[in-house]
Amino acid sequence: MKQINKKGKQKAKQVGLAACVVAAVTLSGCSFYDIVDLFSGLGRGSEALYVNENQQMPSDAEGAMSEERESVTDEVKNGSIENITNEENKKEKTEVTILSGATWLDTNGNVIQAHGGQIQLMPVPDENGVKTEKYVWVGEEKSSGHLGNDVAVYTSDDLYHWEFQGDVFRAVESREQLDEDSYFQELYADCTSEELDEIYNCINKNTVIERPKLLYNHKNDNYVLWFHSDDSTEKNTYKYDVGMAGVAVSDSPAGPFKFLGRYRLSQCPDDQIDCFPSSKGEARDMNLFQDEDGTAYITYTSENNKTLYISKLNEDYTYLSTDPEKAVYKEDFIRIFPGAMREAPVLFKGDNGRYYLMSSSTTGWMSNQARVWSADEIFGDWQNDGNPCVGTDADITFDTQSTCVFPTKEGQWIYYGDRWNSTDLADSRYIWLPLNYNGDKVEIKWESEFILE
Ligand code: GAL
Repeated sequence: MKQINKKGKQKAKQVGLAACVVAAVTLSGCSFYDIVDLFSGLGRGSEALYVNENQQMPSDAEGAMSEERESVTDEVKNGSIENITNEENKKEKTEVTILSGATWLDTNGNVIQAHGGQIQLMPVPDENGVKTEKYVWVGEEKSSGHLGNDVAVYTSDDLYHWEFQGDVFRAVESREQLDEDSYFQELYADCTSEELDEIYNCINKNTVIERPKLLYNHKNDNYVLWFHSDDSTEKNTYKYDVGMAGVAVSDSPAGPFKFLGRYRLSQCPDDQIDCFPSSKGEARDMNLFQDEDGTAYITYTSENNKTLYISKLNEDYTYLSTDPEKAVYKEDFIRIFPGAMREAPVLFKGDNGRYYLMSSSTTGWMSNQARVWSADEIFGDWQNDGNPCVGTDADITFDTQSTCVFPTKEGQWIYYGDRWNSTDLADSRYIWLPLNYNGDKVEIKWESEFILE
């Protein structure tokens, strides 16, 4: 992995300010979460900073704030960056080193732009259509900042050298571009003018396109991209009110991906307590998982970020297996720890056959404590395994937010998290750490630098 010497920037921590706001909110009686959003500049609407795994809603926002940290320790914040600013150390570095937190370059020497991403082995066709297994890294191209991100794809044979395959799914700059730009004309040639209006409405440069994830569909021999598709609505100006999952397809991970639509997903059954009944089927931070039998699932945060769901996909991987209105609980979907307020879900199956669901708490771009739940069956009983991170700064996931856990060809498991830089999102960094199984529990320890097994 090539890295360049670029100073890491400390993530914006607004705890002091937020603490004052808590007091102000108590006096004024207005929503604490709205104020947090206002000051964090996220425009994110109702979010909380607490961990609650029961059905109860938070009664004490101030208590939640006390879990926040002013800063991360130097070891985690700067450790890897310092290594490469030291000339002597630099000479000793080989290209085959995972140097978390540094700026990672692709094989063209450009900064890798694949945030909120996913890495997996999948068949990749060459120019003659002949497929070989490669690592595919899909993620947000954040040069445009928070909104209107294209989706980028990189491929690699060894996880160190990443070849840019292009911005494989593009946000639309203007409605006219769909009629006039040959890229979009070809891609959407069979669409009516009304359908083009809708495509523009869903994936224009002012919309949220986050956490893209890919699946290879063996049955159709195609690639299906899902992402968090969001925007403001007539009712609400914050950018996460649409709360949907978007879907696009292509014959190659190198794109171009054609947008099919965006959807609300599974809904809380009538006999359970819905943590946000006014907005059914919301889907925000999301991830995909393909089981050994080919069945694929989407996991996502719903009910205004209060409850994680896992829902089964159809055989084409382009929609749910069953419409939300007809879906059967524990056959088509499951809610996990209602009210726990988790996001950034990562679903994976260990070598031991157990399912794991890792997630973060909901503090926007700020890091917080990770949590893992595990289960023998995907729609079975999930247990709380607690924080998988161990050691210094384990309580803030080593200043990262979960986005992917993947096995290498050699059988090593890697945790990949984003270290967001809220003041310059394109400069957010990638952190990879070895993930180990300790009995049935997973464990992640900080390593500034390591070589893959
Ligand atoms: C995070 C989320 C990111 C992005 C960000 C915006 O909590 O995981 O994907 O949505 O909030 O505030």
